[in-house]
Amino acid sequence: MAVLVTGGLGYVGSHAVKMLVERGESVISFDDLAFGHTQAASGSKVVIGDIGDKNLLKKVFSTHDIDSVMHFAAFADVGESVADPQKYYITNISKSLALLEVMLEFGVKQMIFSSSAATFGEPEEVPIPEDHPKNPTNPYGRSKLMLEEILKEYEHAYGLRSISFRYFNASGADPSGLIGEDHKPEHHIIPLVLQVALGQRDKFSIFGTDWPTPDGTCVRDYVHVTDLAQAHVLGLGALRKGKATTAYNLGNGNGYSVREVIAMAEEVSGKKIAAVETDRRPGDPAVLVASSKKIIEELGWKPAYPELKTIIETAWNWHSQHPNGYDGR
Ligand code: UFG
Repeated sequence: MAVLVTGGLGYVGSHAVKMLVERGESVISFDDLAFGHTQAASGSKVVIGDIGDKNLLKKVFSTHDIDSVMHFAAFADVGESVADPQKYYITNISKSLALLEVMLEFGVKQMIFSSSAATFGEPEEVPIPEDHPKNPTNPYGRSKLMLEEILKEYEHAYGLRSISFRYFNASGADPSGLIGEDHKPEHHIIPLVLQVALGQRDKFSIFGTDWPTPDGTCVRDYVHVTDLAQAHVLGLGALRKGKATTAYNLGNGNGYSVREVIAMAEEVSGKKIAAVETDRRPGDPAVLVASSKKIIEELGWKPAYPELKTIIETAWNWHSQHPNGYDGR
């Protein structure tokens, strides 16, 4: 049986693809190259296309014996989703519905869905458990929550079972150094601070120093992308054994402030990282830290790289060897 991975050439998707290929799975990476890179395919079969293209999807489903879909393809920039919600609802909802429609047509009834901590909004308690109230503060988070709700209805009505993984801050790179994070433009803290360390940027802007946190900067739960991939492999196994639709948080349960991330990046890289204090970024919650007790207990998830230092070391290994990402050295 084959696994169709939408967004399989993107950051998190490509790490899942690599792990699936290494485990001997037959994998089809389906990607429109908006943020994906063909160099990140890890030997999987590549199909370039849009998940809203039902004819192309039908061709893929009719020519491969697919039993499950891992659905990573989506836009995921919180700020952009506020400025252009239509883009997010068309891609993250409408095109996902097209994918689900074709899955049902071909009797494929297992999906792993990339959801987000952004479904929670401003937390009322930390660490955040799965059943915490969901009040997303932006269209991106709302689009992810809507698809989670749709997937519950699809199980009830059509027997399509799914696992939604709510990633906290995906970070790091495959320890092999072969694949890693390459967004253009880049908005995420760890690649940005490492680009300063590499001399590619003059300075890093700290978004707000007056948050209600110990050092005044935002606190996040950084989770290694290879550990996210591991959760997907466990989830796939559980779905194949008949697991009912559910959602899991994926984080390490440890919060690090922006200043702590900068300090760790300085330690790992051995470079001074220039930082300036700027205003808060609209839509940022002060603290996002996961409780991942549920997946640890139910699926035996055991993060291999829970330490911030290791996460940044693997990211540094990737960025210092690929200063221009996948586009040459
Ligand atoms: N930050 C800065 N300066 C920057 C960039 C980020 O200070 O130039 C700060 C942010 O304010 C935040 C922290 O660094 O406090 C992490 O920011 P990222 O942009 O790296 O990540 P976010 O926490 O904003 O977002 C991530 C994912 C989103 C997801 C969200 C919640 O990128 O897709 O986690 O799950 F919605």
